[in-house]
Amino acid sequence: METGRVLISEEEIAQRLSEMGEQITRDYEGEVVLVVGVLRGAFMFMADLARHIRVATEFDFMAVSSYGSATKTSGVVRILKDLDEEIAGRHVLVVEDIVDSGLTLQYLLRTLKLRRPASLEVATLLLKGDMQRVPVDVRYVGFTIGPEFVVGYGLDFDQLYRNLPYVGVLDQHSL
Ligand code: IMP
Ligand code: MG
Repeated sequence: METGRVLISEEEIAQRLSEMGEQITRDYEGEVVLVVGVLRGAFMFMADLARHIRVATEFDFMAVSSYGSATKTSGVVRILKDLDEEIAGRHVLVVEDIVDSGLTLQYLLRTLKLRRPASLEVATLLLKGDMQRVPVDVRYVGFTIGPEFVVGYGLDFDQLYRNLPYVGVLDQHSL
């Protein structure tokens, strides 16, 4: 299996997640936070980040699919699995794998906001430094990366490579 080159190593991810966890712990001190993982890409990031959050934490999941080609989203989002929990009056932290155009997240946040949470913030492992991005407010960003297509640590290409313990860039010829 072609895995390409390492962009962000396991060690760098671990170090950054502990910093993010500390920041989240400070920001939510005395509150109960409902961490909402966006499946499938966020599963690994969510599990590892959660170990560094030291306030009362509950978990829920959503699954969305963005229509589009394998590497570009169209912004039309379908909810494949909605939350099990009601979020009105609760502190919701949405955990995403990557924000590229921001269209998926914009749709998701609009939908969740209508349910009147007490607060609604986003933690993403990766943010693509994309000038085309729609304005979305992302409070916690792991790493800002270039426009290249990345895989690993939850992120897929055609459903593969999610299990890589690092974030990598596929070789052009394997795409
Ligand atoms: P956006 O709507 O353009 O922000 O893209 C959101 C979704 O596209 C992400 O949640 C990913 O599932 C997918 N995506 C965007 N860029 C990448 C990438 O580089 N690797 C893997 N998936 C990506
Ligand atoms: Mg995704």
